[in-house]
Amino acid sequence: MTRITSLAQYHSEYKKSVENPELFWSDIAQEFVWKKKWDKVLEWNFKGPDVKWFLNGKFNITENCLDAHLPKHADRIAYIWEGNDPKEANIRLTYKELYEEVCCFANVLKKYGVVKGDRVCIYMPMVPQAVIAMLACARIGAVHSVVFAGFSAASLSGRIQDSDCKIVVTSDGAYRGMKDIPIKAVVDEALEVCPGVSSVIVFERTKSKVTMIPGRDTWWHEEMKTADKHCPPEVMDSEDPLFILYTSGSTGKPKGVVHSCGGYMVFTRYSFENVFQYEPKDLFWCTADVGWVTGHSYIVYGPLLAGASSLIFEGVPTWPDAGRFWQIVDKHKVNILYTAPTAIRALQASGLEYVKPYKLDSLRILGSVGEPINEEAWSWYNVNIGKGRCPIVDTWWQTETGGIMISPLAGITPTKPGFATFPLPGIQPMLVDEKGKEILGNGVSGNLCIRFPWPSIIRTTYGDHERCRLAYFATYDNLYFTGDGCRRDEDGYYRITGRVDDVINVSGHRIGTAEVENAINMHADVVESAVVGYPHDIKGQGIYAYVISTNDKKDHELLRKEILAEVMKIIGPIAKPDKIQVVKGLPKTRSGKIMRRILRKVAEGDVSNLGDTSTLLDPLVVEEIKSGRL
Ligand code: WT7
Repeated sequence: MTRITSLAQYHSEYKKSVENPELFWSDIAQEFVWKKKWDKVLEWNFKGPDVKWFLNGKFNITENCLDAHLPKHADRIAYIWEGNDPKEANIRLTYKELYEEVCCFANVLKKYGVVKGDRVCIYMPMVPQAVIAMLACARIGAVHSVVFAGFSAASLSGRIQDSDCKIVVTSDGAYRGMKDIPIKAVVDEALEVCPGVSSVIVFERTKSKVTMIPGRDTWWHEEMKTADKHCPPEVMDSEDPLFILYTSGSTGKPKGVVHSCGGYMVFTRYSFENVFQYEPKDLFWCTADVGWVTGHSYIVYGPLLAGASSLIFEGVPTWPDAGRFWQIVDKHKVNILYTAPTAIRALQASGLEYVKPYKLDSLRILGSVGEPINEEAWSWYNVNIGKGRCPIVDTWWQTETGGIMISPLAGITPTKPGFATFPLPGIQPMLVDEKGKEILGNGVSGNLCIRFPWPSIIRTTYGDHERCRLAYFATYDNLYFTGDGCRRDEDGYYRITGRVDDVINVSGHRIGTAEVENAINMHADVVESAVVGYPHDIKGQGIYAYVISTNDKKDHELLRKEILAEVMKIIGPIAKPDKIQVVKGLPKTRSGKIMRRILRKVAEGDVSNLGDTSTLLDPLVVEEIKSGRL
């Protein structure tokens, strides 16, 4: 694959990609296995939006992930699996073995009536079977919708209903550190309101007790015993959907971001190989969960398309102790480590005594993703993990972009702590002001937009194309709006400064404030609430909730506990507010709009200058809020 190996080449490739995007991307797309080549490289408008890449190209992504590697590299390791418990034996899957497992499971899905275009929900722990299930869907043209197994039954059922999934693939339980989470029970609860689901396939992981519903539930291992190892790949069109992945926005329920087969395939491999400078024999470890886009693109598709060897880790960074990541790096001789700033900060806070016992000399490249990385965490990562000799790639992208958009190319792009540096070839970022006017030159800040389509751009939001338009293409004319603020420094380096909308980023997880408010408002004693983010040492941002209670007599501690339980039930533990302040009123304008700016300032502890409060309906509420700050 077109591989950039010098800064000069990066500049020339970038230039080529802007001057002639069609030629640039068709050269790259040539390197994949197609049943039929595309007739046209690109057709697009951002009004619809309507973006199509590699029109009428026919292929199957799993042939490129699996079959294509078999003639020469059948015995190469695709995955090494490391369980939650360090004492549990590792599992190694070669490309040949993975291929067979995928084909077998594809046949199981077929047996249960899944056909091209059907949606399959995957709600699994980090076991190889999660990846196998995803690829099995792709093999037969079914659309996977992976839901992170930390989401509650209510969140799960909402997602299953929204995309009308026919089958759910899950496991009995999930290990996470000390916890044994009964995830099949969550599925059972979710399915009480999902009559469209006809079958549940259960992988046995923890051997915990589960209820199997006859006629609906079946065991993975039973099914696999009799399934055929051969499954011809379904012929897919470039623009057929590959997967749906739900993500939070500033309004309403989570949206099902839809990615299509062709462009996503081309871009994930290209970005993987170039950003991480993957070399054959390297062991790549992305610590994300497959429930997030990072897992989709850089545990599953990007690495497999590149024929890479990856590590899959089931557990958490802090169990049995805060040295787990480093122990794994040494044990498996990981060469490239890709993780999130929140993990880096948590491990930094645990102290260097957890790092010291390990050599970490296999590491060659380090990556960061999911949230802005503060300079301190960047330097700690650089000095203590990379020992000053591993380039750090701070990769900025989103669920909607499908792959890495702005990032250094490891060892090629000179880095600066906290900067995602430069756009990948093919990516045309642009800063705009509130009115959408382009902000030119360097040493400037603005809202980050992208002016030209790239192959793995979001195609639609499932079942509601207008929502896709409104969320990303309607804020500014003819531009894709990211929702992020961004600085371009004197040298033209990009630094992502964080969301400019009502989305907060907690430990690299995207959470819509409106979603948390809705969950809180479900509590019988809450009339209204407002949720904002505030700086948090470990999580990046914490969740601060202001709530108005109808019940004066209720103990605030009890109310807080109940609200946390409500949020857990409706969304999941990741959306639990860190702070809940009970207030008498919220700062509103005369037109009834909550002035979140004020709430953010109070949550941050910056109360000296709250700006203009003259338009407030009742300026006194601000005093009450300030004095009750937690
Ligand atoms: C949002 C996207 C991309 C995979 C994981 C998150 C923030 C992501 C960075 C970075 C600063 C970043 C942005 C973005 N973000 N990477 N390197 N530097 N901010 O995917 O859940 O879709 O969230 O995460 O705010 O919009 P996501």
